[in-house]
Amino acid sequence: MGLLFALGYDPFLRRTEEACLAEWRREVLADLSGDVLEIGAGTGANLRHYPDAVTRLTVSEPDAHMRRRLEEAARAATTPARTIVVSDAPSEALPFEAATFDAAVSTLVLCTVAHPDRTLAEIARVLRPGGRLAFLEHVASDTDPSRLAWQRRIEPVWKWLADGCRLTRHTREAIVRAGFTIEREVRASMRKAPPWVRPTVRGIARKASA
Ligand SMILES: C[S@@+](CC[C@H](N)C(=O)[O-])C[C@H]1O[C@@H](n2cnc3c(N)ncnc32)[C@H](O)[C@@H]1O
Repeated sequence: MGLLFALGYDPFLRRTEEACLAEWRREVLADLSGDVLEIGAGTGANLRHYPDAVTRLTVSEPDAHMRRRLEEAARAATTPARTIVVSDAPSEALPFEAATFDAAVSTLVLCTVAHPDRTLAEIARVLRPGGRLAFLEHVASDTDPSRLAWQRRIEPVWKWLADGCRLTRHTREAIVRAGFTIEREVRASMRKAPPWVRPTVRGIARKASA
């Protein structure tokens, strides 16, 4: 399953990337700088969107098939001005000291991790005080009850097909529950995507300064 998912991931998302995702990735990453951690980096779809101000990038990906593609993408994207380090760490147990990173990134990952609350607690731990979390996630519909009912119905099959992806997570609320302050937030429908993954939220959340 992992190999098929890794092989199919980029082709499956291509039309969505062109329609909106690539632009959204650029937007949430645009203001980041310094030492950045990306969790669940997949095939490395974000790598080409990081601004020059990001000087060191740690990309974590526990799935071996995805990580092979990520390593290739990281080799191609490493420059004299930017180091990219690939880690196999799951986001629920990050092998980094507290207060290490200036920013963290999660795009289309909090739908899939086994333990979103533990993941967000780990992100909060490794961020320096005042550090930012850039997020872009598909979520449970909170404006359309019939879509939410469909998301609930489809979720068991989708979870099996899409490597553990859940459709009914309230990720914005989980970010707030983890102690972050949401500084910027956009809700939008993901164009050229299956209807059950269209509701999204993206933005910037900040860890308290002290
Ligand atoms: C839908 S893909 C998103 C990939 C990439 N972030 C993107 O924006 O295209 C979800 C990724 O989360 C990874 N993942 C699953 N469980 C994880 C965990 N516990 N910790 C970190 N990453 C995880 C998967 O292996 C997969 O690469």
